[in-house]
Amino acid sequence: MNPELNLSATTTEAKTWSQRFESALHPAIARFNASIGFDIELIEYDLTGSQAHAQMLAKTGIIAAEEGEQLVKGLEQIRQEYRQGQFHPGVDAEDVHFAVERRLTELVGDVGKKLHTARSRNDQVGTDTRLYLRDQITHLRSQLRDFQSVLLHLAEQHVETLIPGYTHLQRAQPVSLAHHLLAYFQMAQRDWQRLGEIYQRVNVSPLGSGALAGTTFPIDRHYTAELLNFGGVYANSLDGVSDRDFAIEFLCAASLIMVHLSRLSEEVILWASQEFSFVTLKDSCATGSSIMPQKKNPDVPELVRGKTGRVFGHLQAMLVLMKGLPLAYNKDLQEDKEALFDAVKTVQVCLEATTILLREGLEFRRDRLTEAVNEDFSNATDVADYLAAKGVPFREAYNLVGKVVKTSLAAGKLLKDLTLAEWQTLHPAFEADIYEAIAPRQVVAARNSYGGTGFDQVRQAIQAAQTCLSGLE
Ligand code: ARG
Repeated sequence: MNPELNLSATTTEAKTWSQRFESALHPAIARFNASIGFDIELIEYDLTGSQAHAQMLAKTGIIAAEEGEQLVKGLEQIRQEYRQGQFHPGVDAEDVHFAVERRLTELVGDVGKKLHTARSRNDQVGTDTRLYLRDQITHLRSQLRDFQSVLLHLAEQHVETLIPGYTHLQRAQPVSLAHHLLAYFQMAQRDWQRLGEIYQRVNVSPLGSGALAGTTFPIDRHYTAELLNFGGVYANSLDGVSDRDFAIEFLCAASLIMVHLSRLSEEVILWASQEFSFVTLKDSCATGSSIMPQKKNPDVPELVRGKTGRVFGHLQAMLVLMKGLPLAYNKDLQEDKEALFDAVKTVQVCLEATTILLREGLEFRRDRLTEAVNEDFSNATDVADYLAAKGVPFREAYNLVGKVVKTSLAAGKLLKDLTLAEWQTLHPAFEADIYEAIAPRQVVAARNSYGGTGFDQVRQAIQAAQTCLSGLE
């Protein structure tokens, strides 16, 4: 909330809502009803939308050409006042739309009262929200690109760095660290695409739907849509003023971005623990404890993981908000904004922080990663594959290797510690090349199926990612 807003209704003269009313709103109800505390966020979009509406009114002859010009100029003046920190509407204005109209009338006189001809706040607020979200989506998509390019940059440095791969959080098979990072690149790529698709449905103009049924004036909806760079107009006025699908779709996409950031955060938190010690957090992105001097805490990924719940909550709130609404506009819809604004801001700060964290806040510990992939049984599948390649049926080989793991564990040995004689008593097909076959580097290199972790595949994946980011695809 803008701290400079005057939210105390008691300081303002209590007016009746209109001449239809006999007495003024109760001050607490005025505050309850008002959205100015948060919809001021829409002001620039409100001004732009109103300028287009004024131009259209003039073009269609609904108002005189010079009246249209006066309105456009007056609105521009409000924009300057706002940018210079000189526009502070209070709760008596109720919302940003009334605040602008009132100020406009102060600035340009009675002609200001013509602005709202052939329009309702219902189609107006829908227009503003879409204009706002369009900009936010564009910004988010460019943030996703930054995030992807940091992931790609790290991947380029770590093609040959191995890291244990897990299923069930149990060591499974080692993978290239680049491969692991590129999994997140792919998630972000889908996020980027999804936002692009949603943009198409955000980019439709409800302006001219009126309160719900259209208008008696000879407006030109396509002209305002064109001035505002909308891709099309709502075909049904009732749908135009009451549709919030675009906001729900956006919140779904925002939630998925947060799912991805949160999963990455969880991994970084684990990796930074003493138990894993796969990464070191740099001082610029870690915090200490107020009591335990030895500590360095991963606050950044923890906050990202924590903030994820907020965004999911906004999605849920918006779905519930809509499910019982009869057509067309209902004041419930005023509740869409805080959810949307907070989701947008949350995803933006989380993307920014995660990108910084990856770019300069952590370092992978190659020593620890090498140790990790050398000290477990994550090459057991490769022993089974080795036998299978020599004609032993895979299930038989699998059972045999299970036995080998059991006896090795009992003897406190790893597979690489078995002597050739020991291998050969287990199965005559084992030869000296078994040691090469189960070395972690070879284990990774051998998984050269399309999309796998084999180094050749990873190099190709890096190239594809480079092409994707260069926009040449
Ligand atoms: N502040 C309102 C909102 O955000 C604007 C639309 C008001 N429309 C109405 N019919 N009361 O939804």
